[in-house]
Amino acid sequence: VSKEETRMKEAHTFAMNYYHHLLLNTEEGEKALHYLEERGFSRELIEQYRIGWSLPNWDALTTLLERKGFNLAEMAQSGLLIQKENKNEYFDRFRERIMFPVRDEAGHVIAFSGRVLTTETQDAKYMNSPESPIFQKSKVLYNLDVARPIIRKKHKVIVMEGFMDVMAAAKAGIMNTVATMGTSLTKEHIQKLKRLTDSVILCYDGDGAGLEAAKRASQLLMESKVKTEIAILPDQMDPDDFVQKNGAEAFEKQIIERPHAYLAFMMMVARRNKNFQFENDTLQYVQEVLEHFVGNSSPVERDLYIRQLAKETNISEDAIYQQFRKIEGKNLKQNSRQQAPPVAQNAPISRK
Ligand code: UTP
Ligand code: MN
Ligand code: MN
Ligand code: MN
Ligand code: MN
Repeated sequence: VSKEETRMKEAHTFAMNYYHHLLLNTEEGEKALHYLEERGFSRELIEQYRIGWSLPNWDALTTLLERKGFNLAEMAQSGLLIQKENKNEYFDRFRERIMFPVRDEAGHVIAFSGRVLTTETQDAKYMNSPESPIFQKSKVLYNLDVARPIIRKKHKVIVMEGFMDVMAAAKAGIMNTVATMGTSLTKEHIQKLKRLTDSVILCYDGDGAGLEAAKRASQLLMESKVKTEIAILPDQMDPDDFVQKNGAEAFEKQIIERPHAYLAFMMMVARRNKNFQFENDTLQYVQEVLEHFVGNSSPVERDLYIRQLAKETNISEDAIYQQFRKIEGKNLKQNSRQQAPPVAQNAPISRK
């Protein structure tokens, strides 16, 4: 680790403690504190995650960092400050926001996400630190430092969309949970998780965007040979909303312990907005589902789901099965044409 990175992390720790102090001990922080209380954050949780508040001032943190002897150009590179255009002057990136620290795998603070108190204004709901030498969104999973030992122990990780959801799960005592930082799940994220477990539950928001994101993420996970299940939330609810409304126990029992298998989920997604009274919708549905079966299904699963498909669409199981064989055949041919010559399969066994 370079000296520069060490200083940047030090500055983030300093900023975190400063923001945390403003939230808990000052009049300026009161509104934010009330907001958090309304959302079900206990004092304990606020302290545990060292949540904070940033002042509306343009130079509150800038002044303090300068006084502490930090180099302001470097601090701008770290994402804490912003340089004024064509000037050797700097100002605070985060102002008037609830500050959520983001930690790396070793537990060092490397970024922030700041939430506005009200979404009625034009400002983005969350402002995140930009990419920096210490923060790369495509690699960071929120809460991984804390969740890691529990993921190992439970042989399972739950991936969510937002860090608010991860904290809601923590309220419910579910601790093997991480979130991506406002990006979709990447191969790098998956590689990190694979070192800990080969079983993932996706628990994304119960809206169109969440469903699409879960679809993409589950495909990527299946390609990476990770067992993937998808927990579905009621319409327009995210994990945080669910815990708030129905309680922790219901969340665990109804959502986390009852995820859909990958193929069942893909069928559900494919079924959306389709009307089986229209031939086109029906044919498209069957085709789409069967394409997911190729490479992702065992004979037993195929039997189960083809029965279901037949029932739903009123097409015979036989015809559906034949169609599956046809798609599979086409795929095999394509793959054998595209694939490079096989490589010896004696890679070292990965540590679990
Ligand atoms: P959501 O919009 O689902 O946020 O975005 P949320 O977690 O439910 O937040 P609340 O409950 O309204 O406070 C999920 C994730 O997408 C990123 C954040 O990382 C958030 O956790 N996001 C969202 C942004 O980066 N910027 C935004 O403006 C909104
Ligand atoms: Mn083990
Ligand atoms: Mn969402
Ligand atoms: Mn959400
Ligand atoms: Mn939410």
